[in-house]
Amino acid sequence: MPYHQQKIKTKDGSFTLRIEGLKETYHSRHGAVTESKFVYIDTGFNFWKQNNSDRPCRILELGYGTGLVAYMSFLEASNCQQQIDYTSLEAYPLTQTQLQELNYDSFFEENSVPLSFRDFSDVDWEQRLLLSDYFKLTKNKIHFEDYQSSQLFDVIYYDAFGAHAQPELWESQWMKKCFELLHPGGIWVSYCAKGSVRRGLAAAGFEVFRLAGPPGKREMLRALKP
Ligand SMILES: C[S@@+](CC[C@H](N)C(=O)[O-])C[C@H]1O[C@@H](n2cnc3c(N)ncnc32)[C@H](O)[C@@H]1O
Repeated sequence: MPYHQQKIKTKDGSFTLRIEGLKETYHSRHGAVTESKFVYIDTGFNFWKQNNSDRPCRILELGYGTGLVAYMSFLEASNCQQQIDYTSLEAYPLTQTQLQELNYDSFFEENSVPLSFRDFSDVDWEQRLLLSDYFKLTKNKIHFEDYQSSQLFDVIYYDAFGAHAQPELWESQWMKKCFELLHPGGIWVSYCAKGSVRRGLAAAGFEVFRLAGPPGKREMLRALKP
């Protein structure tokens, strides 16, 4: 993005990036790690896993950003010993220097991690790489709008910047695209709870659920493809 990103500390002590020009952060100011775990790992992947513990989960993320949500998914796959095949799309990749300045390795240092954040962030783009017995990662430098896949996904982490910053990515045509990218029974999850997004998801064919949000956010959305 043609904007300047600035590192900020969030309320749980983890860092994120802020784009002043968009008045937007990569994660919640109330806790980057807390929000990522609440919205994507627990309400997304762990929810799907409750009824699908016997098969690998194919996850699609819109917005690799700092890689924090991807890295936490990687740690969760090892913790619960369930395979994840993770594809993340990013139109404007950050630099290695920006990612390392976030110092996520010191945040996770107490866990016994199979791979450091530094090494996780350093893997190549446009390749499907086996990073552990439980995790395959494919990072694609592409706009979501242009992305096509011959295989369907089980879970979509829809982590675009907010509608005030990037309204175009919350239009109903992209909710329809998500619907088409999911298996029946697949789920879409996001921190966003906007009424127009809810209606776009419903119009695409999803069953939409308003759920309690992470700290600092009253509600979030999860949608199920019947
Ligand atoms: C809220 S941040 C994602 C945060 C990320 N999940 C993380 O853990 O750091 C939104 C991301 O979407 C990316 N983005 C913006 N427009 C995009 C597009 N059209 N297609 C794909 N990615 C896009 C931005 O560059 C940014 O990295």
